[in-house]
Amino acid sequence: MDQTKIILPESEMPQRWYNINPDLPAPLAPPLNPGTGQPIGPEALAPIFPMELIKQEVSMEPWIEIPDEILRIYKLWRPSPLFRAHRLEEYLGTPARIYYKNESFSPPGSHKPNTAVAQAYYNKQEGVTRIATETGAGQWGSALAFAGALFDLTITVYMVKVSYQQKPYRRMLMEAWGAECFPSPTDKTNAGRAIREKDPDSPGSLGIAISEAIEDAATHDDTKYSLGSVLNHVLLHQTIVGLETKKQLDLVGEKADVIVGCVGGGSNFAGMAFPFVKDKLEGQEIDIIATEPTACPTLTRAPYRYDFGDTAQLTPLLKMYTLGHSFVPPPIHAGGLRYHGDAPLMCLLVNQGVIEARAFHQNEVFEAAITFARTEGSLTAPETAHAVKAGIDEALKCKETGEEKCIVIAYSGHGFFDLGAYDAYLSGELEDYELPEQEIERALAELPEISEPA
Ligand SMILES: Cc1ncc(COP(=O)(O)O)c(C=O)c1O
Repeated sequence: MDQTKIILPESEMPQRWYNINPDLPAPLAPPLNPGTGQPIGPEALAPIFPMELIKQEVSMEPWIEIPDEILRIYKLWRPSPLFRAHRLEEYLGTPARIYYKNESFSPPGSHKPNTAVAQAYYNKQEGVTRIATETGAGQWGSALAFAGALFDLTITVYMVKVSYQQKPYRRMLMEAWGAECFPSPTDKTNAGRAIREKDPDSPGSLGIAISEAIEDAATHDDTKYSLGSVLNHVLLHQTIVGLETKKQLDLVGEKADVIVGCVGGGSNFAGMAFPFVKDKLEGQEIDIIATEPTACPTLTRAPYRYDFGDTAQLTPLLKMYTLGHSFVPPPIHAGGLRYHGDAPLMCLLVNQGVIEARAFHQNEVFEAAITFARTEGSLTAPETAHAVKAGIDEALKCKETGEEKCIVIAYSGHGFFDLGAYDAYLSGELEDYELPEQEIERALAELPEISEPA
């Protein structure tokens, strides 16, 4: 009989994370010191990150053991179920088989605690007592608040102002776990004050909130900084998603033909895709499709260049598809996809043609989310809905061609705190945004002039 939920027993949960770095088809461009244009060493990151995470950031070991304490906490929601979307398939009339790996069962409701728990663990091990971070939609902030509660760490969250206003319940959730949360830009940091002086009504952006959190960490001895996406070690921790999915597909005798996911900074997408990228690089035929909003089209329209990770230019330069570090995206509802850049590891694979990228307008994305809710039942996060949209498009292509493909959707989180966005969609108030070409040109003009190391 066809299964609906494919459940791995706890004893089968992967015990190691997969590090794609040694398997890349081309070397990863190193982070650069913006002053000298030279690659930075691990010591440059020591003021803001614990050493073990810095080691993971630069590791060339293909597999990294997951410490027992992290595995024990993962068991609160892992292994997460892989669902077969029977009802969606029937509704679409597609011969494709659609699966979705459901990360919404974690206590904060997304994939983010896979790395939040790991980061809190390594900080605690090294004697850190407080962590500062930023959050867009509030998913990352609540994941770190949850992890902070488990490890008795103080968590300070700078939340992008527009999301803080759109999603008060995310702030309440963070506070319930004991974190403090401020609407960014704040008047607590030089970075925040500078933005407010120029633009008192700034809706904020992830780039600004990152600057505030880094400045907070760099100016307090007991505090480190934590990032919920983009960096290599964050993507590494998320690979448990793809590793579990492979085992679950094996259980039902399937091999993925298509993987789809959404990209903000790239962590949930990479977590699902990288174990499959390994197969693709070894010769397996598999389409790996990254999705993003047309309002913040990094992978589909931005240049592949060195840029800062934050607005105040506090980070090293990272090579990525970037809309420029001062880019403030329109306030679309997929707050977690409003970042001006993307993970360097992902960008490299897009640049090499291993991963394909597509952009969608928010109305078509919500239409897909509603179709999903009315067939499968689950209400997806607006970010995740981009992946659902691509999954439905792929299944409809199969309907035309008659191909019986196995499509896997990275289902990164639920939308229970995003009902305002659903309400706006259902009452016809959601606007679509297409980023004007001049914005991309403006981005290009502000990128730092760097002659890349040979
Ligand atoms: C549910 C969900 N999916 C996806 C994302 C995008 O982040 P990333 O690209 O790092 O997975 C976010 C970010 O907040 C999110 O909350």
